[in-house]
Formats: sequence, C-alpha cells, structure tokens
Amino acid sequence: MRMEGKGAALLVALLVVAAVLAAIPSCSAAATTTLPKKPKASAPPPSVDTGRRTPSSAVFRLRGNVYPNGAYYTTMNIGNPPKPYYMDVDTGSDITWLQCDAPCQRCSKVPHPLYKPPKSSLVPCENALCYAVHASIHQKHKCESPGQCDYEVQYADHGSSIGVLVADALDLPLINGSTLRSRIAFGCGYDQLFRNPEERMLTDGVLGLGFGKASILSQLSDSGVIHNVMGHCLSSRGGGYLFLGDGLVPPSGITWAPKIPFGDSNYYSPGPASLLLGTQSLGSKLQVVLDSGSSYTYFGFQPYRDFISAIKKDLSRQPLKDAPDDKSLPLCWKGPRSFRSVLDVKKYFKPLVLSFGNGRKATMEIPPENYLIVSKKGNACLGILNGTEAGLPHDLNVIGDISLQDLVVIYDNERRQIGWGQANCDRVPNADRIDGFCQPQFASMGILTEECPAYYHSDTV
Ligand SMILES: *[C@@H]1O[C@H](CO)[C@@H](O)[C@H](O)[C@H]1NC(C)=O
Ligand SMILES: *[C@@H]1O[C@H](CO)[C@@H](O)[C@H](O)[C@H]1NC(C)=O
Repeated sequence: MRMEGKGAALLVALLVVAAVLAAIPSCSAAATTTLPKKPKASAPPPSVDTGRRTPSSAVFRLRGNVYPNGAYYTTMNIGNPPKPYYMDVDTGSDITWLQCDAPCQRCSKVPHPLYKPPKSSLVPCENALCYAVHASIHQKHKCESPGQCDYEVQYADHGSSIGVLVADALDLPLINGSTLRSRIAFGCGYDQLFRNPEERMLTDGVLGLGFGKASILSQLSDSGVIHNVMGHCLSSRGGGYLFLGDGLVPPSGITWAPKIPFGDSNYYSPGPASLLLGTQSLGSKLQVVLDSGSSYTYFGFQPYRDFISAIKKDLSRQPLKDAPDDKSLPLCWKGPRSFRSVLDVKKYFKPLVLSFGNGRKATMEIPPENYLIVSKKGNACLGILNGTEAGLPHDLNVIGDISLQDLVVIYDNERRQIGWGQANCDRVPNADRIDGFCQPQFASMGILTEECPAYYHSDTV
C-alpha cells in the first residue's frame, strides 16, 4: 500500500521490512482477528482454474510515475460482474490485496468504491494458499476460525492491514485479444492503520508479484494459465506496461543474470553486485533486490555512505549548491538556474553501474536520469535514499522504480533468471504482429499502440 509523493517511498520500503521484522518470533503478527460479520464457511476452495490449457500471456497498461505519484499502477477488473481497481505493481511482495468492505472497519479514501467480497468467497484456513500467505509474511499458520484465512501485514512504521483471504474472478486481457476470466485468491483488507489516515490513496490495493506460492503470478502459472514469467516497462514519461506470461519477452537485447535466493524471502535478486560511479569502484559487494513496489532506490549502510561521499566529491567541482530548504527528498541541489527536467542536470552527474556475477558479467547501468528527480522547486534531488534510515537491514539494497525506468525488466521463474534491457515503454512491442492485438477491448483498456489503426484509439480509460 502506498501513499502519494514523498510518503510512497517510505511505506514501500517498510513493506520490505515488514517481512523481515515479522521473521523475529517476538514480533510475529498474531492475526487472530475474525471478520466482523463472519459468513459461514460453505465456500468451495479457490482452486484457481483446473482446466489445463496452452499457457497464454496477459498485458496491462500502467499509469503513474516516480515523481510526484510515487507509484506505477494498473487497472484490474475483479469480481462478477467485474469492477475496476487500481493496483500498485509490487514485485517485492507476494500478497495481492485490496481495501475491502467486509464490512470495512478502517479504510482510507481510495479511487474506487470498496471491493465487496461475495459471501461464498472466503478461502478456508486449511487451504494451501492460506499456508502460502502466512509463510510469505512469516506469520505462524493457525486457524482460530477454520472457515477463513486471517492474516495481518505489518509495516515497520507501525502501520498495518488486517484482512481475510477471498477468491474471486479476475479478468485477464490476453495478448491475442481475448479476455480470460480466471479465479484467484487475494486479500480483503478491512482494517488498515496508516501514518496519515486522512491521506487520499493513489491505489485501491497492491498487486503482489513476488515468486512465492501466494502471488497471483504463481497462482496463474500453477493453474496453467500462463508461464511463470512476468515483466514490466516503466516509462520515464509516466505509464508503461506490465505483462504476465512469456509472450512479450523480447527475443534479443536482454542482459540476463541468474535469480539468486535471498535469505528466506521471495525477493527477486540478481545476486551480489559491485558498484561503480562512472569508472570509480565504490567498495564492497552489494546484495541487490529489484522491487517495483518501491518508488526510490535504497542503499544499505556502507554503500550509501560510499556513494554519498563519492558524489559529493564530484559535485564540489560543479556549480551546484545544497538546497536544504527543498524537502522533496533528503538531498537536493540548486543549479545556476532552476531546472526544468532531468536532462538539464544529467551533465553534472556520472552514471552508476551495478556489475553482477563472477565471471559471467551482467551489468545494469543507472544513468543520472534513473537516480535523480527534478523537484517542483526546480532542484535536482537524489532518488537514492539511506536504507538504514528507512529501517531496512544494513545489507539490503533495493532497486526501485526510479532506477528501472525505460527498461524492460523480466522476472523469469521458469528459468530462474532476471533480465533487463533498454526499451521504449510508451508502446507495447510488436503490437502489430501480435495476432488480434488491435481489438476493441484493448482500446477500451487504453493499451493500444500507434501501430493499431486510428479508429481503435479512444480515451475511455
Ligand atoms: C486466445 O488464447 C486463449 C488461450 O490460449 C484461447 O482460449 C482463445 O480462444 C484465444 N483467442 C483468440 C481470439 O485467438
Ligand atoms: C544513514 O542512516 C543511518 C541511520 O540513521 C545513519 O547512522 C547514517 O549515518 C546515514 N548515512 C549517511 C551517509 O548519512
């Protein structure tokens, strides 16, 4: 769950921490709360969809940006009849959940009317997906009310969400032009605590795309709907696209690194990397995870210190001055003139390079436009933040949205690899060659590209 703008960065970082903190037994989230009005458990188990079929792929248009929105999100059509919800795309967690009228005890202002689960939608506690949900938030699996699966997600800033697992229809817009209705289990969060309860939320919920069994990616692949592969392309101009399945993986131009286990978490990690600013090496190896649910990038204790001192040394030769009055982000610099875009400032900064692997080299370049933002005051602000200050473990480095812009990033759980490559995220690739892509339903979802005939384009979303 995210807040807009500045708040977003923090909360998402906290999502990362939530799991870590919950791993400590004394902090384990004992979610024993039951639904206010407890529907009886006559619910069929949420076997997602039993009919095996040729796996397909789905594509979703993204909205949002790093700044000022602080999130990329997509519209998901959930329920029967389907209703739209804005979901924050989060590769750093497994649980998909929505603020929910079960009825709601504490919900914030969300973009759409609250999702209302049908009575028969409760997932029983003994269901495998309930075990998976508890495992992914490091919560002990226990069943106070066998008819339902209670959980609690805790955030390190003492925010939290209490919810119950439900199963309902999800419409998948396939790349061949049809819509596939599948059934997935997700969280119905009916009691939320936020730092600022009055704040209007940008999204109705979180789309958890980690690789744990509870994530919708795993659910859809376990049911044979898609291969266990996904990717996103976050445009620096805002928006972009997300795909589930392997149908839009580019055939070339992708740098691949093996997916390395990261503790007992379900984070996507391309393994340890060395960090360079320009050509200068910045000390020891970093444990890196990719997390689209984090708006900014966070470095651990030592890498952050090394990076800040190197960048400050570089800047001492440039006509930039500290701008401590600009509170957009912790570190901002004022130029000779107020900046209008990152393109005005990038000449003062060097690219960062993450170099993964031993031997088989895979590098990720983070150019200045992928670690700086230009604030509303026209200053250049650093979008790489102090993870320790945000409450992250000392040795965790989170590559967030800002550093993943204008890249197609592929999370391939079939081959256990992670890939990235430069891309124009404003258009879905090969749309003209994808059979049936130029279809009215895509127009109504707004995911057409210029390759489709003009009469398909509309502004209905
Ligand atoms: C698209 O693919 C799905 C699943 O693979 C299939 O059921 C459907 O008939 C296809 N639709 C079209 C228009 O080809
Ligand atoms: C990062 O935050 C930690 C914890 O607040 C602090 O001890 C450390 O000095 C900070 N690092 C830098 C370079 O400011």
